[in-house]
Amino acid sequence: MKPAPDIDQTGIIKRSFDVDNIREDFPILRQMVNEKPLIYLDNAATSQKPQSVIDAMTRYYTEENSNIHRGVHFLSDKATQSYEAGRIKIQKHINAAHAHEIIFVRGTTEAINLVAQSYGRFNFKEGDEVIISAMEHHSNIVPWQILRDEKGIVLRIIPINDKGELFIYKYEKMFNSRTKMAAVVHVSNVLGTINPVKRMVDIAHQFGVPVLIDGAQAIQHLKVDVQELDCDFYAFSGHKMYGPTGVGVLFGKETLLEAMPPYQSGGDMIKSVSFEKTIYNDLPHKFEAGTPNIVGGVGMGATIDYISQIDFDAVLKHEHDILEYATQKLLGIRGLRLIGTAKEKSSVISFVIENIHPHDIGTILDDDGIAIRTGHHCAQPLMKCFEVPATARASFAMYNTKEEVDALIKGIYRVIEVFS
Ligand code: ALA
Repeated sequence: MKPAPDIDQTGIIKRSFDVDNIREDFPILRQMVNEKPLIYLDNAATSQKPQSVIDAMTRYYTEENSNIHRGVHFLSDKATQSYEAGRIKIQKHINAAHAHEIIFVRGTTEAINLVAQSYGRFNFKEGDEVIISAMEHHSNIVPWQILRDEKGIVLRIIPINDKGELFIYKYEKMFNSRTKMAAVVHVSNVLGTINPVKRMVDIAHQFGVPVLIDGAQAIQHLKVDVQELDCDFYAFSGHKMYGPTGVGVLFGKETLLEAMPPYQSGGDMIKSVSFEKTIYNDLPHKFEAGTPNIVGGVGMGATIDYISQIDFDAVLKHEHDILEYATQKLLGIRGLRLIGTAKEKSSVISFVIENIHPHDIGTILDDDGIAIRTGHHCAQPLMKCFEVPATARASFAMYNTKEEVDALIKGIYRVIEVFS
């Protein structure tokens, strides 16, 4: 039975949070793996999708499929409305000032590449500096390295302490007249560290430097308000926030986006084309060349609808409880070392076990139907900081339970037994 809805302070009717009830929304969680109930703890790689998102995308293909922005016919108009409705829902969800500040992209990676290749290429010159941190995902390192190799910019790296926290006082000291951008992760995909991005934006702005935040691991676990953060760019993916793969968002401040040249070119991003001159389209279309991932935009709208009807404070509390519970249990295992023990953490726990390769941990847990991720997690420089080649990583979502954590712990004891 569905719990009775609550009315929150804004007057919006919210469904109260009940993990068993939430789990019913995710059909994949009913699956058996190796004859055991699936325990999905690889949510930082991608989250599972609720039935309502799957249905919205099926409905789109069944009833509305058409190309957008260019047709005069019924279906094209309907498809355009559904896609643009997705954009407006995202705008409201992250409290952007304008819908045209929401650019649909393939995901966080493309969003960062867009900023590097458009803003960066247009504004940076030799000797200019971009600040990133030691805990970045490759997708917030390599795009800047490409610019470094092409234009001679310099990358400055914010160091971390052994808990996996940024040295903010060192970050502050990195700014000078050559600093042109700070690009930092909101929540680390390996350490779970929640970085003080609001403070980091304030510091950068004192030096007139714009900030890009990689929100891939934050958008599903934190309340993100881009106006409150005052960040210049915020990037995230649909598939880590219970939405579809192949679609994500770049939020950019209007003034910056207006001044930036297109990233890709072709249909839909133009107002007019002649062989002599092309006039680009208005925002957001200037950055959405070609037929976009229309069903992805529709799916994003359904994702926001899904998230918005749940009491998010209760989700945050539940996720925090699961993280605390799992951390305490893991700390009790001899020979296990946590990688990432920051004070402010979100739903990710990385660990290594003495004399056992993380891949072996992952493979043995899989026998028990438990899905975790093992490897370098696309953060090889961070692995180097902690002097490990790889870690095992359990990452949680709102549908995970303490019973699943217990199964993980039992599985880890089995791994240790196999190798003893
Ligand atoms: N970046 C994703 C992860 O951390 C794929 O697993």
